Amino acid sequence: MSDQQNVYPVRDDFAANAWVDKTKYTAMYQQSMDDPEGFWAEQAKRLDWIKPPSNIKNTSFARDNVDIRWFEDGLLNVSANCLDRHLDKRGDQTAIIWEGDDPKDSKHITYRELYTRTNQLANALKELGVGKGDTVTLYMPMIPEAAMAMLACARIGAVHSVVFGGFSPDAVAQRVIGADSKLVITADESVRGGKHVPLKENVDAALTREGTDVCKNVLVVKRTGGEIDWNDGRDIWFDELVDQQSGECEAEPMGAEDPLFILYTSGSTGAPKGLKHTSGGYLLYAAMTHQYVFDYHEGEVYWCSADVGWVTGHSYIVYGPLANGATTLMFEGVPSYPTHGRLGEIVDKHKVNILYTAPTAVRALMAHGDNVMDSSKRDSLRLLGSVGEPINPEAWEWFYRVIGNEQCPIVDTWWQTETGGIMITPLPGATPLKPGSATTAFFGVKPALVDNEGHLLEGATEGNLVILDSWPGQARSIWGDHERFIQTYFSAYEGMYFTGDGCRRDEDGYYWITGRVDDVLNVSGHRMGTAEIESSLVAHSAVAEAAVVGFPHDIKGQGIYIYVTLGDGIEASDELKKELTQWVRKDIGPIASPDIIQWAPGLPKTRSGKIMRRILRKIAANECDGLGDTSTLADPSVVDELIEHRANQ
Ligand code: WTA
Repeated sequence: MSDQQNVYPVRDDFAANAWVDKTKYTAMYQQSMDDPEGFWAEQAKRLDWIKPPSNIKNTSFARDNVDIRWFEDGLLNVSANCLDRHLDKRGDQTAIIWEGDDPKDSKHITYRELYTRTNQLANALKELGVGKGDTVTLYMPMIPEAAMAMLACARIGAVHSVVFGGFSPDAVAQRVIGADSKLVITADESVRGGKHVPLKENVDAALTREGTDVCKNVLVVKRTGGEIDWNDGRDIWFDELVDQQSGECEAEPMGAEDPLFILYTSGSTGAPKGLKHTSGGYLLYAAMTHQYVFDYHEGEVYWCSADVGWVTGHSYIVYGPLANGATTLMFEGVPSYPTHGRLGEIVDKHKVNILYTAPTAVRALMAHGDNVMDSSKRDSLRLLGSVGEPINPEAWEWFYRVIGNEQCPIVDTWWQTETGGIMITPLPGATPLKPGSATTAFFGVKPALVDNEGHLLEGATEGNLVILDSWPGQARSIWGDHERFIQTYFSAYEGMYFTGDGCRRDEDGYYWITGRVDDVLNVSGHRMGTAEIESSLVAHSAVAEAAVVGFPHDIKGQGIYIYVTLGDGIEASDELKKELTQWVRKDIGPIASPDIIQWAPGLPKTRSGKIMRRILRKIAANECDGLGDTSTLADPSVVDELIEHRANQ
């Protein structure tokens, strides 16, 4: 079997020093399946509880009663777990290493410093009238203030909603309204790859949109000193307000099921949805997976290269590592600036032991050849991790050989915004690795494959990936729309959480994620709904109809391919293509930039008017021979026309 060709056994020296070896994995996994209550009651002790929970698991996936509660009678504070409890033992240890976009900029922040600044900020939030249950939108660069803002919200029981800094003013407005945020925290500008992004200007624009008057204040970090407009009475400089505050702010006792954050993500239909994560189960799961999956040991330097605007940044830059008292590196820039050697140079500069990154970053470096890593040694590295999309075996091997010097196991971690933490993954001291496979389930996770009718499939096979029982890190709802939560995740297959991913299981029980089976794209590890991009396009006056599909892209994994039908009398031109590209970038953000636009006089539709995306995906992928049955189309000649005029890639 081709799967079997390259198996990387667990190295003995690694297993000997790892938190979990094969024997321990088997025993712990079995216990987590046989006695979830007992297992998670024991694990919950890793957190500091104000009142320890006695009611451990109370969860139902039943379609008519989706209700997920963990540790529900426990009280705790997430920020106290990430800060206060470390002060005695490691107050002077570095909590955050910040590496700026400019290689000359970096700083170390100790746990005590992080504690004090977070407490000051928490007091500042209170002064602005933010309290328990209020929501705060963060639209920030990758600077320590972003972590402080998340923790300060957690400290006073406010709910943060982080919006990725690459989103547009409209996307910010939509999320401010959706979360009913009375405060936005931002910076004058962010800096990435030497370029400045006008965050404050975007917030100003967002807050002119109808419905955003819920937002009363904008707290602005001075990052670059670039010129910005100022709205007296609404805008406040971060440092000016925070400097005057006391460095002590009592941590609010929170119920384990009180919300910690909202994070918006794309689905197959409608506008992005705000997933609701709660306090106790989320933190426990983030911390536990961080320790075991990355085999984190005291004193190590750990770097997750994601952005805090995504769930990976939430769980594995901020909450998991800080709950474990780790040293976590936060990088403001991009791996290709000022040169393609930057990633390795950062590893050497800060003696990084564990590096967690995305396949798209690996492929982008790989495209420059092995010499791209010549400016660094990377001999501090002990473990590598991958997340966000399937990693193709070639990229896996290159990651292993060139970046990791053949010394480091790779943990390919499968999970989602909805799952809160890593679900299917190797444990580096326990699991033999197969390049391209996320391998097996983490403790307490019960994955399964089903066919389209929801029948459970056994053995080596392929199907839709579902999870059969709840785990503590799971999102509890969609903010303000529990019905949509049920519809999206629990209606396809009764009693199961549907992930939206397709997956193969091999004869060793290893899972191989094959990608989304719904209309969600994964572009450079960023999730995007085709419906969102389509609705943006049809809002343009020249567009009568649009269909968006993904196509295989060497670096990004998937690219965005758009078929556009123009309105009557509108002339197709390259200028119009450029205009539509700008339109989508402005509407959603640069991450939604179309790769290819093809003019489509008509779209393939069934007689009932449904667009047949399967066919459009095939044409985009240049697999025009295997289109399958087109006889159900209202007008089959549309397909020939599209093939004939297929855009050059
Ligand atoms: C995909 C990111 C294959 C998958 C943490 C999932 C992966 C979606 C992997 C979630 C992986 C994530 N192998 N596919 N290791 N990790 N995915 O919500 O399609 O931004 O459903 O969370 O990314 O993306 P999200």
